[in-house]
Amino acid sequence: MNTPAPIAMLAELTHRCPLACPYCSNPVALTQKAQELPTEVWVSAFQQAAELGVLQLHLSGGEPLARHDLSDLIAAARDAGLYTNLITSAIGLTEKRLKTLEDAGLDHIQLSLQGTDTEMADYIGGYKGGFARKMQAAAWVRAAGIPLTLNTVLHRKNLHQLPRAIEMALEMEARRIEVAIVQFHGWALDNRAALMPTKEQADEATRLVIKARGTYKGRLVLDYVPADYHTGVPKRCMGGWGMVGLNIAPDGQVLPCHAAQTIPGLTFQRIDDTPLRDIWYDDPAFNAYRGDNWMQEPCKSCEFKKRDFGGCRCQAMAIAGDAAATDPTCQKSPLNVQLQNLTNHTQNEDEIELTYRKM
Ligand code: FES
Repeated sequence: MNTPAPIAMLAELTHRCPLACPYCSNPVALTQKAQELPTEVWVSAFQQAAELGVLQLHLSGGEPLARHDLSDLIAAARDAGLYTNLITSAIGLTEKRLKTLEDAGLDHIQLSLQGTDTEMADYIGGYKGGFARKMQAAAWVRAAGIPLTLNTVLHRKNLHQLPRAIEMALEMEARRIEVAIVQFHGWALDNRAALMPTKEQADEATRLVIKARGTYKGRLVLDYVPADYHTGVPKRCMGGWGMVGLNIAPDGQVLPCHAAQTIPGLTFQRIDDTPLRDIWYDDPAFNAYRGDNWMQEPCKSCEFKKRDFGGCRCQAMAIAGDAAATDPTCQKSPLNVQLQNLTNHTQNEDEIELTYRKM
């Protein structure tokens, strides 16, 4: 098969984060500050990415504002010709720092929203005072006129706040809102029982998103990641393994997706010792699940295999114990019945404590 050039790159600049969200999809074992890539290696990575064909650079973490060289990194990415998107909780942002980032050439901000009021947001984020700081930051972003997307991760504890989250996106003059029902990767998998939405919540979220798309057409774009355990339809993870985008972890490992390190047997090359072009086209880890030669039945002969690529390899590994299996969230997977059973809500699940993310 002809491998296309990647369009997007996610640079996970750090795993450090002031928040402690129980739905965090970063790995259970985080990279420590001492292992983070230095500025010059990131700058080289951005130049190589642009030469490879990458157009969009997503600067993420952890909390990317924890990197003191963030404005230098944004400037370097812009010099390389990349569109820069900062994915942030905004904790640690000041008006002065926002100006510095804007002057460096920042194109777009994605602001995370843990809840629509102080009580919920600070409870989910595990950070007292976080909501107030976030709202202040949103006002600065709006005043600066920087294009904004509001990122919500919704789950059983906060899905009832979806209508207000949409209103807030409009008030902030955001261009988009990403309505993502929690996906169970990394730390979030440990909190699955506490976070799993009820079937009623999952259905209501879909109804609300469809309605809001009609109501706010031309004013607000709603991106939607449905609850894949509930729908029987697997997600089109990464737009196909090694087809559209790549990630660089804080320690420099180049990954086909953010959870790829959970797949045993794959080893990953580092941006500080192998050219990005060689990794993208030739690395065995990137080729492991590219295309459809690796597929087993029922994916192999499935009419939807070009649409969903068999779902998510990391989810197949986590649940089926085989990264080449059909994603168990697909109704054609023999394991799907078990997942559907997990969505049957019992009252005592409301009492399950959240386990907060710690560095
Ligand atoms: Fe790795 Fe979906 S998160 S393929």
